[in-house]
Amino acid sequence: MKPIIVANWKMNPISLKEAEDIFDSVKNGFKNIEIVFCPPFVYIPALIKKANKGIKIGGQNVFYEEKGAYTGEVSSPMLKDLGCEYVIIGHSERRKYFNETDEAVNKKIKAALSSGLKPIFCVGETDNQRNSGDAEAVVERQIREGFKEVNESLIIAYEPVWAIGTGMACRPDDAKKMLKFIKSVIPSASILYGGSVNSQNSGEYIKEAGYDGLLVGGASLKPDEFLKIIKSSIHGKE
Ligand code: PGA
Repeated sequence: MKPIIVANWKMNPISLKEAEDIFDSVKNGFKNIEIVFCPPFVYIPALIKKANKGIKIGGQNVFYEEKGAYTGEVSSPMLKDLGCEYVIIGHSERRKYFNETDEAVNKKIKAALSSGLKPIFCVGETDNQRNSGDAEAVVERQIREGFKEVNESLIIAYEPVWAIGTGMACRPDDAKKMLKFIKSVIPSASILYGGSVNSQNSGEYIKEAGYDGLLVGGASLKPDEFLKIIKSSIHGKE
C-alpha cells in the first residue's frame, strides 16, 4: 500500500492567497504516495480546482446530519459534492474545544462513509492518561466507540494528545508498541502517526515503526519541510 501523508492545516492560513501559495509549492506529481490536503472549508473549492491526480483534498471535520437547521455546520454530501475524498474525524482539538464525544464521532464516521468519503479517524491519549498507564485502554475505547456498527476497513490516525503541536513527538519505539496494539484491536485498519512530525523524524514512523502514513499539522504549512516529509516517506524511488 502507498503511504498516506495528510496535511492538517487546522485554522491556517488566514488568506486564500497564502493557502494557494502553500498548495502550489507542494503540488508536484509524486508517485507511490497518497497526499491529502485538509485545508479550512473556505479554501476547499479553490484548491480542488488546482489539485491534480496525485493530490487529494479532505475536510477537517464534518457534521453527521445531511442538511437542515444546523447553523455553522457542513455536511458529508457537501464535501463530497465539492470533490473531497477524505475527512478528518475526531481530532483531539475537536474533542477538547468543541466537546466532541465518542458518540458524535461515531455518527460522523457513519455519515462520511454513507456519502462515500474516507474518514481519517483520530485517536490518542493525553499525558495524564499515559502517565497513569491508561493509554491503551483510552485508545481502545475510542476505537470501539468510534467504529460501533461500522464494518468498512478504515484509516486511523494515532495522535497522542501530548505530542500534538508540542515538539515532543512520540518515540518511534513507543509509537511502534501502540501500532501493534491498535492492529490487535482492529487488524484491517490503515494506521497513521501524528503529533509533532517533522522532516527529521518522519521517516522513522513509516520505515522503522511500520506506520502506513502520517498526519502532519504545523510542518504541513511549511512547503520545504513538508516536501522533505513527503520524500522521506516514499517507499523506494519516486
Ligand atoms: P502537529 O499537529 O503536527 O502540529 O503536532 C498534528 C495534528 O494535530 O494533526
